[in-house]
Amino acid sequence: MSLALDPAAQDLLFREAHTAQKFSSEPVTEEQLRAIHDLVKFGPTAFNQSPLRVTLVQSPEARERLVALLSDGNKAKTASAPVTAILSADAEFHEELDVLLPAIPGAKDLFFAERPVRERSALSNAQLQAAYFIIGVRAAGLAAGPMTGGDMEGIRKEFLGDDHLPLMVVNIGRIAEEEGAHYPRAPRLSYEQVFTTV
Ligand SMILES: Cc1cc2nc3c(=O)[nH]c(=O)nc-3n(C[C@H](O)[C@H](O)[C@H](O)COP(=O)(O)O)c2cc1C
Repeated sequence: MSLALDPAAQDLLFREAHTAQKFSSEPVTEEQLRAIHDLVKFGPTAFNQSPLRVTLVQSPEARERLVALLSDGNKAKTASAPVTAILSADAEFHEELDVLLPAIPGAKDLFFAERPVRERSALSNAQLQAAYFIIGVRAAGLAAGPMTGGDMEGIRKEFLGDDHLPLMVVNIGRIAEEEGAHYPRAPRLSYEQVFTTV
């Protein structure tokens, strides 16, 4: 056995997990969302900067505004998902660094005084955290439907403000037990295609 993780957990997180296109009507609770955060917050980021921010789109009025900004193929599943979250990168993450990085006092000004540097760092590290988040959703026995198809700049203006850079919209819920709940599994690259040894 090459992997330490229990095979059932491997299936839950990866082999059997799918990007959801349809969800059951079962609600997602705040308790579940808190449990997901309390797990995936331990995923690593550079300088422990933790730039991911999550905006839950809850009211019917807010959901309508979001759906209007998504591409046609993403509208219906977002209108009916139990929970929809906008994931973004906080370009002002450095304001938390004194607390998040006690090992390097002053890192905030030493490394992140300039906004373009912060934006690059926030984007790449929040993307990492978005991946941890999707796997965390699966760890809760739920399914995620991440989407970038839509007017992401419009989503920033409508929901986020100047300091948050939009990454993706994610529908979250229990995957429906019906035809079309997910697309057929597409091929993945082999070890040989991905790895190079030098
Ligand atoms: C960042 C990101 C953006 C995506 N955007 C969309 C999208 O706009 N619409 C959509 O239907 N699927 C979208 N997907 C879903 C991918 O196509 C799907 O995750 C991938 O094909 C794997 O599918 P599987 O989990 O069923 O194997 C997106 C996935 C990711 C991670």
